[in-house]
Parts: sequence; structure tokens; C-alpha cells
Amino acid sequence: MIAWVELPQQVIEGRGVRLRPYRRSDADDLVAGLNDELTRRFTPGIPNPYTRADAGWWIDQGAPRAFKTGGAAYAIADPTTDRLVGGIGLSNPRPDKALAEIGYWVAPQARGRGVATEAVSALAAWAAEQEIHRLDLYTALENVASQRVAIAAGFRREAVLRGVMPGRDGGWEDRVLWARLAGDPPGPSPRLLPDLPGGPLHGALTDGVVRLRPLRAPDAPEIHALHQLPEVVASSVPPVAPDREEIELRCARAGTWWLAGERADLVITDAATGAVAGDIGLYYQEPKAGQATVGYALLPAWRGRGYATRAVRLLARWAFDRVGIVRLVAGTSPDNVASQRVLERAGFRREGYLRGRLPGPAGSRVDDVLYALLPRDLTGLPETRAQGARLSTP
Ligand SMILES: CC(C)(COP(=O)(O)OP(=O)(O)OC[C@H]1O[C@@H](n2cnc3c(N)ncnc32)[C@H](O)[C@@H]1OP(=O)(O)O)[C@@H](O)C(=O)NCCC(=O)NCCS
Repeated sequence: MIAWVELPQQVIEGRGVRLRPYRRSDADDLVAGLNDELTRRFTPGIPNPYTRADAGWWIDQGAPRAFKTGGAAYAIADPTTDRLVGGIGLSNPRPDKALAEIGYWVAPQARGRGVATEAVSALAAWAAEQEIHRLDLYTALENVASQRVAIAAGFRREAVLRGVMPGRDGGWEDRVLWARLAGDPPGPSPRLLPDLPGGPLHGALTDGVVRLRPLRAPDAPEIHALHQLPEVVASSVPPVAPDREEIELRCARAGTWWLAGERADLVITDAATGAVAGDIGLYYQEPKAGQATVGYALLPAWRGRGYATRAVRLLARWAFDRVGIVRLVAGTSPDNVASQRVLERAGFRREGYLRGRLPGPAGSRVDDVLYALLPRDLTGLPETRAQGARLSTP
């Protein structure tokens, strides 16, 4: 079935954004926007540097040609001034399958106020009117802002595709594939793990002594040092020290796994100074059963102060109250008495002894002591402890 040959060039009014054909007076704004470092990093194929001649070619030839070949290329304009604040388009059209790929960028001065979300929502609705059945969207694993746009505009995460995009250094890069079908319900797509209270950039959990916040790229040095410690390696699965590159990727991509609903990786900090004390993670392996696993580690200088117990309580409260998890489990090696004390003080109960449950050193298997916490276990804690686990915004 041929759904379309050439898409019409129109003016599409969205909420607070206008999508319109490019015009010659856009050249300066186009040059400024496409020389921005973030735009360059996440938008493939932009000439470097992007010159006025490049902008002239795009306005006169590139964008009109996109329509002639079954795609679309619109300027995102501020509806009050009609000035260009970004670009959006449909590429790689497949009329035989009624699908196309959506891409976009927003100028730095216009970011963070929903421009991309509204532009993508408007273009997706328009594409559905043109009988485009499915829109694909590819985001880099480090591009959390764009992934948030995808979710807010109702795209669903489908997979991580390995080596699917040419990288800047001549290699190939992975991408998260998102898609929106014409018949998908309006509004954002569902998420398993919400943001922390306080929002995506500044959200945290704190009891006034420790503060948990999402793991980020700049945390790599401390997290790398933490995961080289022999006792931390011994309690990792598998028990192998990660190298620097692995830790850098883990930190830079933590937001991706959070948005995917797979794991919430947090840094434990000292609430007074902000110093990194350790890390803690919630691994949502059984969402259908409402069960997740918690794991944590502290740098030696911060041990013996009750920080791990406080961190586990804070995370457990958030998991029960905000995520809807109903059973939190944790495993420790049989000789890890300190970790068992943390779990017991946080209200966990010992449930079992699992023989040969985990990979050990040199191909061996090691036993694991299983602990679990239910929401009702928290109510049985003495008042001072329960207070320590209350949810509060920073
Ligand atoms: C991605 C991009 C288009 C977003 O534009 P925008 O107009 O700022 O997007 P919105 O305001 O609609 O939404 C951005 C969301 O990301 C969040 N965000 C922004 N920077 C973030 C960061 N560094 N980490 C986490 N979240 C971030 C914002 O808080 C907002 O989320 P919220 O609405 O839930 O609070 C813009 O950053 C950009 O042009 N980037 C470079 C080009 C690019 O990445 N294009 C997409 C390629 S797939």
C-alpha cells in the first residue's frame, strides 16, 4: 500500500510552537543553533563548522528536497515572534510501510521549556493525519533530555540497537529506538520508575544526614575508586572490578536505565557537604511481581556512621510509596556481617540461605543470604528509625 508520495508543506500550530517551512531570514538563527556543541553531538551529519552557505543551501534546496522525497523539514518557530528556535523533520520515509523517522533540535536559549516536546507532539499528530502509521525515533544512550522528550510525546521505548549510527570519530554508535504508532493514546508514555521528588535535574531523597541523588557522568572518579575495593568487588555480580571506561559509561548512561524502568542508580552523599559517600541501586527486575533488588556500597571513610542504613531506608520508602514496589530484596554473602546488620536495622528479615546462588572468583559459586522487606515491616520500626526513612525533598 502506498500511503503517500509527497507530504504537503504546511504551517502546523502546536502548543506554544509553530512548525513552518524555512525561509531565508532564518539563516543566522540556523547557523547559531547548528554550531551549538550539544546539537552537534547528538544530531548526525551536520557540517562542521556550519556556515551561512550551509544554511542557504538547506533553506533553498535541502529542506524543500526533503518534502519531494517523501519526508518533511520544518523550522520550529516561536509563535509570538515567528523566529526560528529549532528544527524538526521526518527522514528515511518508507511509504510502502507507512513509516518514517523523526528528528529534532532546539536552540540553547529555548531549551528546557517544552519546545521540543510540543514540536514532536505536533509533528507526530500531523504525521498521523498524513496516514503515517509509525514514527521511529533514535536517541543516544547519553541523551537523557531527548529521551524525556520522546516519553513526554508518547513514544515508547522498544530496544537498544547496537552500532546503528555512524559516530563522530568514524566508529558506530548504539541508539535507543523509540516509536509512536498513529493509534497510540495521547499524552506521555508510561514509566515504571518516576523521577525523585524535586524533578529530573535536582530531585533527591534526604533525611537530613544522607542525601541520595541520581548517579551522573561527573561521579565516575569516586564510583570507580569505590568499585576497585576488594570487598566491594567481592560483593559484585560477577565479582570482577570494572574498568574506568565501564564506570564512565555506567555513570553517563544511568539516566537511560532509569527512564527505561530497569534500574535507579543513586549516589549516597553526605547531606551537609555533598561529598560522595557511596552508591545504592534499585534493580527493578520483576515489575509484574512488584519486586525489586537493592544493592549498595560505601567508601571506607564513610563507614560506621549508619549511612548505609539510612540510604537503604530512604530508598525503600521511595520504592514503596512512589514506585509501587511491594517487596524489596537484598542478598549478602554469608560472612558479610556489616551488610546483614544494615539490612536488619533497615527492617529487612532474613528469609533464606541460597546455596551456590552467585558466581564467585575463578569460576566458583558462592552462597547468598536472602533478605526481604515488605511495606509493613517499616511500620514496625521504632519511631526514631521510621523518621529516618521519611521522604522529603531537598
Ligand atoms: C533534546 C532537545 C531537543 C530538548 O529540547 P527542549 O526544548 O529543551 O526539550 P523539552 O523542554 O521539551 O524537554 C526536555 C526535558 O529534558 C530534561 N533535561 C534537560 N537536560 C537534561 C539533562 N542534562 N539531564 C536530564 N534531563 C534533562 C528537561 O528537564 C525536560 O524534562 P521535563 O520536561 O520532564 O522537565 C535539546 O536538548 C537539543 O536540541 N539537544 C541537542 C540535539 C538533540 O539532542 N536532538 C535530539 C536527537 S535524538
